[in-house]
Amino acid sequence: MSTTLDVNLSNNWSVVAVSDEVPPGQIIQAFLHGQELALWRNSEGMIQAWANRCPHRGTRFTMGRIVDDQLACGYHGWRFAAGGQCTYIPAHPKLAPPKTVCAKTYRTVECYGMVWACLGLPETEVPTVPALANSARHALFCRSFVTQQSADTVVAQLQHASEHRYQVIGPNALIGADDGKAMPILLVQPMADNKSILHLWVSCENAAGDDVGIRAHHSALFKRQRRQLEAHA
Ligand code: FES
Repeated sequence: MSTTLDVNLSNNWSVVAVSDEVPPGQIIQAFLHGQELALWRNSEGMIQAWANRCPHRGTRFTMGRIVDDQLACGYHGWRFAAGGQCTYIPAHPKLAPPKTVCAKTYRTVECYGMVWACLGLPETEVPTVPALANSARHALFCRSFVTQQSADTVVAQLQHASEHRYQVIGPNALIGADDGKAMPILLVQPMADNKSILHLWVSCENAAGDDVGIRAHHSALFKRQRRQLEAHA
């Protein structure tokens, strides 16, 4: 996985997971611009995005578990509270861990059913996606597609596709044409220089009905389109 990171990219918000894929009590691995992340949420539902590396000996946090609303490292059991501060070292139970012992944390928010993170200092807000924010419509998550292409390549391909063309509405956010029942929306997660995840949503009229059918139709349509675009890349 590449670790190349452009300074400007690090200051953008990007999707890193579907919110429902980070349930309470679990630690989920994710990637953004080559950085490996551990995602989890505390009992208040507040999402956390940390570098997936314990500051003690570098063990992946995703090998740990959630104990008493804190992340416990899987190796020596050091515990870290939301915000990253180490709170407990099992080998020295009476010692208050130094304030300097912290997990590396990143800014994160939840919006439009997705977890968004920023590896640097965000220069803008999370991109506005009106079709997902419109109360006269409802949003359905279809599925996520992993592709061995950069986010820039994927966005350019979809923008210039000969059919089912998409329009860019923000950094790594695109909308497709409304077919009368639903409008597809893609949020692109730049995992690394040559790997991305495309999270497909559809925005439907509230009266559209048949959510299962709409989801299946758009998932199949996009899967076919991805195959064609990858074959001609
Ligand atoms: S490596 Fe995490 S507690 Fe030791």
